[in-house]
Amino acid sequence: MPQLESKYMGLTLRNPIIVASSGLTKNVEKMQACEDAGAGAVVIKSLFEEVLGQEEFGIQDSTGIHPEAYDYLRADLAMEYGPREYCSLIYEAKKKLKIPVIASINCVSAKWWPSFASQIEAAGADALELNVFTTANEQYITASSLEQLYIDIIEAVRSKIKIPVAMKLGMYFTSLPNLASQLCLHGANGLVLFNRFTEPDIDIKKLALKTTFQFSNRYEMHRPLRWIALLAGRIGCDLAATTGIQKAEDIIKMLLVGASVVELASILYKNGVEHIQTLLDEIREWMSSQNFENIDDFKGKLRFTKATDPELFLRAQFIEVIRGYE
Ligand SMILES: Cc1cc2nc3c(=O)[nH]c(=O)nc-3n(C[C@H](O)[C@H](O)[C@H](O)COP(=O)(O)O)c2cc1C
Repeated sequence: MPQLESKYMGLTLRNPIIVASSGLTKNVEKMQACEDAGAGAVVIKSLFEEVLGQEEFGIQDSTGIHPEAYDYLRADLAMEYGPREYCSLIYEAKKKLKIPVIASINCVSAKWWPSFASQIEAAGADALELNVFTTANEQYITASSLEQLYIDIIEAVRSKIKIPVAMKLGMYFTSLPNLASQLCLHGANGLVLFNRFTEPDIDIKKLALKTTFQFSNRYEMHRPLRWIALLAGRIGCDLAATTGIQKAEDIIKMLLVGASVVELASILYKNGVEHIQTLLDEIREWMSSQNFENIDDFKGKLRFTKATDPELFLRAQFIEVIRGYE
């Protein structure tokens, strides 16, 4: 029988399917259900930086407080109370689950998180995923200054903890290979490509703004597929694929271009976490049909540096291939 054991950031997983950070992993019971369904690991629902708002800590009114003093006050209170519940969730999950438990924090600055990272490590997390996203909405913000924030975050967190750290990125960067290698040089053990976000929308009856969100569809997997293929084996850290992966075939494709693991959410929301077993059976079936005994027999076989026609990963313009549509 083909073996699915997978290595990711130095962790050994029984298979490459990780349940992505989401409501599916928001409490110990749900994480246990993921383990029972066959998941290789879980990433806990993110702790969000914005929950460290002043109301959380009872600072009702910051007027009259010097801004710097206010910052310190907020930081002190945040450090004391912010991650406490989250750390006990990690601690309880680690007591119950046998599979790796990866914590996740959403960062928009390098300010508050390094000390939380230490607490997360102390609570027993096997690894930490940094879910970083910030929208550039000022003309003076350059691409490089924005990217520097990502590097500052990884550097600050890395200096505090020893467990593996992955950074989960959005898909819009001018030169991802450069940023990716910088992140790895500054301490990232893994990159998770790519996060998916809610989008702004308009309610035309109320003439008001709203936020919209839909589960992913299969066509969305081609963007992480391209970038994983382009980065695999070239930047010195492991890659996890996320967004749009719906079928066993999609997981196989991601492994073929060099992903170590996949992180799934939408398909498990749609079909239930029990669906993991079907995906694993189908991956094994395909491996048998190709005479592959383990994941390393085919992982990265079609990445950019190994494919016979790698230029296909670079091509994005409408040429002969799609001429039939024009
Ligand atoms: C309901 C829901 C909640 C999510 N919450 C988080 C989160 O807290 N942190 C995070 O990094 N990603 C979060 N995600 C993104 C997923 O982890 C995943 O990366 C993304 O949905 C792409 O995978 P998919 O195409 O399989 O859904 C969430 C996704 C969904 C559907």
